[in-house]
Amino acid sequence: MTGVPAADRGWLAFPDGFVWGTATAAYQVEGAADENGRGPSIWDVFCRTPGKVARGETGDVACDHYHRVEADLDLMASLGLPSYRFSVAWPRVLPDGTGAVNQRGIDFYRRLVDGLLERGITPLPTLYHWDLPQALQERGGWANRESAQWFADYATVVAGALGDVVGTFMTLNEPWCVAFLGHATGVLAPGFTDDALALQVVHHLNLAHGLGSAAIRAAAPSAQVSLALNVAQVYPASDDPGDADAARHADGLANRIFLDPILRGAYPADVVADTEPWCDWSFVLPDDLATIGVGVDVLGVNYYTPSRVVGPASAGAASLDDAPAGRWTERAGARPVAWPGTRLAWTVPQPGPFTDMGWRIEPSSFTDLLTRLSRDYPGVPMMVTENGCAFGDGPGADGRVHDNRRIAYLQDHLAAVHAAIAAGADVRGYYLWSFLDNFEWSLGYDKRFGLVHVDYDSLVRTPKDSASWYSDVVRANGLLG
Ligand code: FCB
Repeated sequence: MTGVPAADRGWLAFPDGFVWGTATAAYQVEGAADENGRGPSIWDVFCRTPGKVARGETGDVACDHYHRVEADLDLMASLGLPSYRFSVAWPRVLPDGTGAVNQRGIDFYRRLVDGLLERGITPLPTLYHWDLPQALQERGGWANRESAQWFADYATVVAGALGDVVGTFMTLNEPWCVAFLGHATGVLAPGFTDDALALQVVHHLNLAHGLGSAAIRAAAPSAQVSLALNVAQVYPASDDPGDADAARHADGLANRIFLDPILRGAYPADVVADTEPWCDWSFVLPDDLATIGVGVDVLGVNYYTPSRVVGPASAGAASLDDAPAGRWTERAGARPVAWPGTRLAWTVPQPGPFTDMGWRIEPSSFTDLLTRLSRDYPGVPMMVTENGCAFGDGPGADGRVHDNRRIAYLQDHLAAVHAAIAAGADVRGYYLWSFLDNFEWSLGYDKRFGLVHVDYDSLVRTPKDSASWYSDVVRANGLLG
């Protein structure tokens, strides 16, 4: 780890066949929001709703990746990045969400996948990274049970078009964010604030994973199926039993509410019991858990930062009725914040160091998370499908981007993944978020996660120092710990 004297540092070799890559998502990088038949998504609408996105920014242009895809893939190849996780924009493929297929949308992703393969880069597409067609939102969006079938029909189209050349499809990215940040705290599209609705959306997303997995397997029988969960590492803030119970509760709502139905075929009893005061779970129909419990071939794990929580008593929740609902940017704030979708657990401020997101940097919690998953869900291989950090470094006088804080973050987090593997966790790959600086949702363009800097006026790309550092790690399949 950084800070360790060189003499005490050892070589951390990753397993043979470990997959290295970078990740992006369609709305965050593509731009071309109104071109070649793409329909509007909930993010186009959300960005135009006053007060929802910093400085009123939108993904209309973003990194203009849609028009610069060949040059971006050349850059990726020149950096020696072996795999690329991207997402398919549902509204490019099905502008109305269901029904007529937009062939120009399919053609774009076919060109992208073929372009990757020509350069020896393995494609890893995610079908849903938050850009629901607006036409489907107008039919109720994820709150409508039919959404699971809409998603499966869309999955059939994409797997049919790309299944001959794609080895693994990911169904959903971070359904927790979709359900709770999109429907309970409202900081992501579509921006609702209804705790009961968020639970109904959780269930429909789980159903979408189940029906979507079956659709992928039918259309592309040799493909593997995965999904990416932002599994939260939640610690109690103290030894107080109330805080321990809050951590159990938050872990249930954040993690086990997805992991258990998908990997074990049942919702956790404690989550159902805890939430019964505001949700009757009548949306779960008799055969649903059999549909959902199809598992995954490999579990995608997105990790950035841990949380620490207290129970309502320590939070003084009785006097905090006006407290802000939890949102991801407020973790560094001064007062307890309600965990999204509940008032039974409260996140408390943590000490730094922080990234530009205000997210505490704590690599050991990444090791804890991966070892916990491997203990609680044995036999499920994992891939890190996102990890990275926002730091605002830009080109200096020498024209280069000296993002040493990113290198330090990556160094320590890769060492943490290595430690989990050494402890027996079956982790098969690592995708760094992100290839390019991009549109960071409600926070707009000033949170820079890229290995490659993007100048949003000229759209010029400048690989940061971390890009050559990461190339070296990838080439060596290891790093100095
Ligand atoms: C994740 C999202 C990704 C990006 C990173 C920083 O929650 O999946 O799109 O915004 O956070």
